[in-house]
Amino acid sequence: MIKFTVKEGSVLRERVDAILVGIHEDAIEKSPLAAEVNRLLGGAIDTVLSRKSFTGKVEQIEVLETRENIPASYFILCGLGKAGKAGLEQIRQAMGRAVLRARDMGLKRVGVTTTAFINKMENITVEDAGRAMAEGANLALYRFSKYKVKENGNSKNIDEIRFIEEERKSATAVKIGVEKGRIIADSVNFARDLINHPANDMTPTILAETAKKMAGANRIKCTVLSKPQIEKLGMGAYLGVAQGSEEPLRFIILEYNGGKKGEKPVVIVGKSITFDSGGISLKPAEGMGKMKYDMSGGAATIGVLRAASMLRLPLNIVGLLPATENMPSGSAIRPGDVLRSMSGRTIEIISTDAEGRLALSDALFYAARYKPRWIIDIATLTGACAVALGNHAIGMLGNDKELKDRITAAGDKVWERVWEMPLWDDYAEQIKSPVADMKNSGGREGGVITAAIFLSKFVEDYPWVHLDIASTEWNDKDKAYMPAGPTAIGTRLILQLLMDAC
Ligand code: BES
Ligand code: MN
Ligand code: ZN
Repeated sequence: MIKFTVKEGSVLRERVDAILVGIHEDAIEKSPLAAEVNRLLGGAIDTVLSRKSFTGKVEQIEVLETRENIPASYFILCGLGKAGKAGLEQIRQAMGRAVLRARDMGLKRVGVTTTAFINKMENITVEDAGRAMAEGANLALYRFSKYKVKENGNSKNIDEIRFIEEERKSATAVKIGVEKGRIIADSVNFARDLINHPANDMTPTILAETAKKMAGANRIKCTVLSKPQIEKLGMGAYLGVAQGSEEPLRFIILEYNGGKKGEKPVVIVGKSITFDSGGISLKPAEGMGKMKYDMSGGAATIGVLRAASMLRLPLNIVGLLPATENMPSGSAIRPGDVLRSMSGRTIEIISTDAEGRLALSDALFYAARYKPRWIIDIATLTGACAVALGNHAIGMLGNDKELKDRITAAGDKVWERVWEMPLWDDYAEQIKSPVADMKNSGGREGGVITAAIFLSKFVEDYPWVHLDIASTEWNDKDKAYMPAGPTAIGTRLILQLLMDAC
């Protein structure tokens, strides 16, 4: 675990191994620390910039030795991009790259100061800068090595990231920001861990136990329903998905009451398929192993509840996770079967691989019990999302303009951006069934939309937004603060939404 500390003082006089220096393209004179370092090293930054190998573009890194003028051994220059265009995202990316370089160099203690990352041209508060810096660093340094038995313990680690602020006032604000950033990134990393666990070690039962343990440590109430109770509720769609698996299903309910008593809660419903084989409509073998990540929506939900409690948000928040595997077997549901959902609506199964919407439909209907202020569901729901939006946007559909606007704004802030698709009733035609009230697949065309239309039938009139994270949840290549693997996307987005709603 990395330690984040904040103190008052002068960063150049601090006993750390390296000092990180943000550099804006073409504007080093506008950054007081960069200018000072340049002077201290006899124009070394000018020299570097004149060679053009480092120009201050985002994600670029250049290491300079301090030549013993000061206690630290290195300056790590990190590009922030064009002054005036740089914002919180550029700060997160620069921080991410810089701490990764420091870790590669085997350094233990890294010193930073917010003024080296904010250009006067931007309207960024020191609190927000501190949060973005801590978040970028903490997210970038994540790794999952639980199953690398032989390598464990041999890897390099940074022990401490120390924020050193010249003024008392800014140190106080930075401390608040850094603490927020640390908690939020820790919760994202917590969710990433859940997702990274292979399906044999993240069964519905283990997911429920893990949620319970997290809840117990964070003043969150956790209730876990098993088959008899779920049967009693009549969740026939969700039960249908689970009936092919040897692993028992678990309906996980998390309740955080930080708001006033009786205040309407925000309900978050997370798709929690711990493994999606497709069922009888079996998926192709290639890449099937990735389907351990089909519980990412649930993982993000757990991450949100964890951080919300640690941040003591003055809101009531509920998380619902209908956890199950989707497996083929003699007891599995078949294409052509008809299931009766908790809402009473019947569903004809076209594909057993369209299982997420079945589990979610009962959880969404259950959400109405809370008379929620908002319902947000988050799910790795459709392959069609990747076709429509590629890897950079979360698909968003919903019935409430205000909630959609809030989510869009929150997504822009944390760079988990959403793109809206239409929830027009015209699409409902595609999921009409000749034998039941609806069918669970509307075919290839508009797959993201017909899936959302299906879900909409179970939310009644509550303000609701559906987030399809199927194409953004997995990162194939390392990014600045997103190592290859699960991104746990949506965690920071929903948290930002909640923080902005306080
Ligand atoms: N979990 C998958 C969605 C998915 C597919 C996510 C590929 C990431 C990559 C979901 O349960 C699924 O299988 N959806 C089907 C729906 C179809 C049968 C209507 C799909 O997208 O193919
Ligand atoms: Mn599926
Ligand atoms: Zn699935």
